[in-house]
Amino acid sequence: MATIKSAIPTRRFDAVIVGAGGSGMRASLQLAEAGLNVAVLSKVFPTRSHTVAAQGGIGASLGNMAEDNWFWHMFDTVKGGDYLGDQDAIEFMCREAPKVVYELEHFGMPFDRNPDGTIYQRPFGGHTANLGEKPVQRACAAADRTGHALLHTLYQRNVRARTHFFVEWMALDLIRDADGDVIGVVALEMETGECMILEAKTTIMATGGAGRIFAASTNAFINTGDGMGMAARAGLPLQDMEFWQFHPTGVSGAGVLITEGVRGEGGILINSEGERFMERYAPTLKDLAPRDFVSRSMDQEIKEGRGCGPNKDHVMLDLRHIGADTIAKRLPSILEIGHKFANVDATKEPIPVVPTIHYQMGGIPTNIHGQVVTPKDGAPAVVNGLYAIGECACVSVHGANRLGTNSLLDLVVFGRAAGNHIVASNLKAKENKPLPADAAKFSMERLARLENSTGSETVQGVANDIRAAMQKYCGVFRTEELLKQGYVEIMKLDERRKHVAFKDKSMVFNTARVEALELDNLIETAKATITSAVARKESRGAHAHSDYPQRDDDNWMKHTLWYSEGNRLEYKPVVTKPLTVDTFKPKPRTF
Ligand code: FUM
Repeated sequence: MATIKSAIPTRRFDAVIVGAGGSGMRASLQLAEAGLNVAVLSKVFPTRSHTVAAQGGIGASLGNMAEDNWFWHMFDTVKGGDYLGDQDAIEFMCREAPKVVYELEHFGMPFDRNPDGTIYQRPFGGHTANLGEKPVQRACAAADRTGHALLHTLYQRNVRARTHFFVEWMALDLIRDADGDVIGVVALEMETGECMILEAKTTIMATGGAGRIFAASTNAFINTGDGMGMAARAGLPLQDMEFWQFHPTGVSGAGVLITEGVRGEGGILINSEGERFMERYAPTLKDLAPRDFVSRSMDQEIKEGRGCGPNKDHVMLDLRHIGADTIAKRLPSILEIGHKFANVDATKEPIPVVPTIHYQMGGIPTNIHGQVVTPKDGAPAVVNGLYAIGECACVSVHGANRLGTNSLLDLVVFGRAAGNHIVASNLKAKENKPLPADAAKFSMERLARLENSTGSETVQGVANDIRAAMQKYCGVFRTEELLKQGYVEIMKLDERRKHVAFKDKSMVFNTARVEALELDNLIETAKATITSAVARKESRGAHAHSDYPQRDDDNWMKHTLWYSEGNRLEYKPVVTKPLTVDTFKPKPRTF
């Protein structure tokens, strides 16, 4: 029988970053280059973080292949997000985009090139010229491996800058002192099963998303909502968690992502009658309408009996007409994924695809510097010592529906912004705040509960039932009845989760223990999602509610805040005032 030690070692840093994806490594680079002592914790080797799976591109209005500007990018992002995005943050991101992409280029990121040497850009869903007139080429691409190229570039720069990587470490909980300030994390080293306190003047959550709360997901197995779980257990709210993006093209039955870049290169979606059905739903942008729109259209085709295959449960993505040479040059991974996961040669046969969970628009609420904010006396207050960036954060640039390529952009823009803000706060000159005597108590008690549990539930049993329930009750189209049933099911699973036990108590690389700890994060994320979704009585972006099919700006143009304690909700206003330009007023979304 293994024992979990009560006295655990401590290491002290200027900054601790939880997560080594695009946002975590962009922030760590900024900090390490400024001479700060930075630790980055990751459950996997950094270049295996989920950012590696981002395929089609990073959005920036470089205008290399057609006229473009940041204002059009901003318009698309506000409209794409169905007017729930904060317009100050969106303006900031779209203005910063060209700068951060050129910076990546100068770091050595191997973008594809145009004949004149400039960065190759392809069209992507919802990105338009001249405020919605026609698709524009805005996605800066490294073939269909843009996230892969980004991650390797950032890792190499971080090694050069002497960032400390803690590889195969899982952060368990935030440490807050009596003032409520965050002063570090408790973390578990997977190799040994031992815990450590990592003290920090600043802690940055960069843990990515929680797509693994759904059964059919493009997300890596590591995406278990660890940052959301840690924030929720520390008493912090989660924002807009009802908004989950279904990517239109996951391989049917496998979930693996087929990049929207395929449609950017000219691929089309067809139904069982061979019809390019998006022409009916989105006459201007067609297959390049935003993802919520395309996913709903696909679902509608399937519901109306025009799905493909023996069960008529998917549609086809046809890229044969693009030509084998372009596919090999621009979409090499898609060719491979088609072979391996759909058993098709994409140069000769279409790929079976279905809307698949891909991205959470919500997360830990932050301001544009990445500082975590929570309401206090009716106004947003900064949580001292805590930042959140990337998919686990909600700054809110994606509103109710993210545009493709804005995810990589968000990682880099806000990773860099958080780094700059921390450097400007003169962190080096500050002292680490004293650790309370019981700093690790909460985490140790969690571990002890799991170690000593004699419950009859298995981790995988409960985790799989969470995924099945979320998939069934919280899908592309939602109804009052489905959401309420989903709420009941998730609350029952929260009870069952308290009775999980695992048999293997060994310490070295014990994945059973890690998965049990991840389950605590999955359930917090699932509760946040279903509770927020039940309450929102309108349709907006990815929250398509069949009983409330219209967007209701009078009552619902507001952000949801969910708290784990008491499973309660609060709301806060959307920031409709941009930094320098006029507000984009809500309009009906047509494409
Ligand atoms: O389709 C894609 O390549 C995914 C990109 C994204 O989610 O931004």
